Amino acid sequence: MSASQAQPAHSGLAPDALLSGGAQQAATRTLPGLPITDSPLSGGTPLDMPPGLRAMVAADIDAVLAIEQTAYGHPWTRGNFIDSLAAGYLAWLKHDAQAELVGYCVALPGHRETHLLNLTVRPACQRAGIGAALLAGLVGWSRRRGDASLFLEVRDGNLGARALYAAAGFDEVGLRRNYYPADSLRREDAVVMRLRLDAPDGGAA
Ligand SMILES: CC(C)(COP(=O)(O)OP(=O)(O)OC[C@H]1O[C@@H](n2cnc3c(N)ncnc32)[C@H](O)[C@@H]1OP(=O)(O)O)[C@@H](O)C(=O)NCCC(=O)NCCS
Repeated sequence: MSASQAQPAHSGLAPDALLSGGAQQAATRTLPGLPITDSPLSGGTPLDMPPGLRAMVAADIDAVLAIEQTAYGHPWTRGNFIDSLAAGYLAWLKHDAQAELVGYCVALPGHRETHLLNLTVRPACQRAGIGAALLAGLVGWSRRRGDASLFLEVRDGNLGARALYAAAGFDEVGLRRNYYPADSLRREDAVVMRLRLDAPDGGAA
């Protein structure tokens, strides 16, 4: 088992599915209800990076991990980020005016849908609109790409994140029982959320 295999997705594919067996396998995996039909970015046209964000590269992973490890009880590993970049997943950074990293997101573009896997804001900078800005950037990108939906999973107990997604127009469309690790004895359910982008009034940004 690689280091990546045991790690959770914060919002996205099941922990045991995320990047398991290496990036290439993950990029072609088909999950129930989540068809992933091609290499993530290869089938789409190039799309502009939303303003104020920049693409994550391998040299950024130390700074990303410093936030990741303070923001979660069950953080992604270095291997999760390395595999995400190797697989060509969308990975964006948000910096403040002093060029300090304050947030990031990782998403998996599929066939006419994109799946948000990780959205994180430095704890000291939370509740200042950074998460909403990253999410709005992703929503706009996904819509320009022609996606019908943007999906994510979120811990049942993560009421702050659920409020953020609800405010952005996401609906709760399912529940994955015992999806996330919680403590040594328990696991936590994931709420599946979807933003319809093909509806006339669908979504923010
Ligand atoms: C969830 C997270 C990404 C939100 O980012 P953020 O920058 O703090 O959120 P924003 O300031 O953009 O919030 C936008 C709106 O979302 C809602 N919201 C965000 N955090 C909230 C909280 N803790 N409680 C209630 N509502 C919240 C509010 O409606 C908020 O608008 P308001 O501040 O005007 O009331 C951030 O708190 C975070 O990184 N948390 C730890 C990691 C995590 O849980 N990631 C999500 C995994 S699915």
